Amino acid sequence: MEIFFDGRLIDENSAVIKPIDHGFLYGIGLFETLRVYQGEIALLNRHYERMAKAAKQMGIVMTMSMDQWREGIQMTLMANQLNNAYVRVDLSAGDEGTGLYTGIYENPHWFIYVKPLPVFPEKLYRNGRHMVVLRTRRNMPEGEIRFKCHNFLNNHLAKREISGLKNTEGLFLTRRNYLAEGITSNLFFVSNHILHTPDIKTGIIPGTRRQFVMELARKSGLTVREGLYTLDDLMQADEVFLTNAIQEIVPVSSVNGKTVSDGIRGPITGELLTLFRKKIIGKGEGGLKA
Ligand SMILES: Cc1ncc(COP(=O)(O)O)c(C=O)c1O
Repeated sequence: MEIFFDGRLIDENSAVIKPIDHGFLYGIGLFETLRVYQGEIALLNRHYERMAKAAKQMGIVMTMSMDQWREGIQMTLMANQLNNAYVRVDLSAGDEGTGLYTGIYENPHWFIYVKPLPVFPEKLYRNGRHMVVLRTRRNMPEGEIRFKCHNFLNNHLAKREISGLKNTEGLFLTRRNYLAEGITSNLFFVSNHILHTPDIKTGIIPGTRRQFVMELARKSGLTVREGLYTLDDLMQADEVFLTNAIQEIVPVSSVNGKTVSDGIRGPITGELLTLFRKKIIGKGEGGLKA
């Protein structure tokens, strides 16, 4: 694979980060995972802005503009002959050596990595995925709001915890037993025709698709609430689903072994998925065609 590294394309095996980079030494780095549909980068501006906000707080200069992101992604897609793809953009703080640094990181490193999308069978969107509550609790975010940060240890430990389980997403609760999110997804549930999702203050990643789905739902007339919810709320829900940029909207068929919505996608989840697929591209949100 060809990878974009600091402005040029190189073979992925030649791309090197130095051990004095603070992305490596201290986890001071950010990433975004984007999806490309037929050459169109979905919600590019939202991904860019999420990283830019976090970078500002971390003192890292966004040395690539959104247009440069788009060009870099398009170059990398072309070099790898991909039109539908998973894209990862990484920003690593820079080569400052040992010792915490309070200055501004003016020379960060950029990587853009692309690969084919995983194959998601239609069955996944009809019958969904299981969910189990994790022993690992969601830790508190690094700042006021969780960044999509290179420090992914909490998620890594969670993933190891459920490594033997097939077609299953782990559910993080907070230390106070509130619902938080999946290991790599945001959580939604429907009760009495109201759409609920855990509040950002539970320490979740403010997902691009979480926000997008809330907007779609509100526009279609649904009441949407963000709040502090318990496992009981989820166990009594009529429908449960997960969102992320790559997998879109995935129904949940069971929580801790208890079947949800007869084990098939519920009607509101189905409507939102249809709307999502209709609206995710061609919105003029920065995702011009490659
Ligand atoms: C922990 C976590 N929460 C939520 C999300 C969803 O974010 P997005 O909708 O921007 O993909 C992700 C994405 O990977 C994630 O890792």
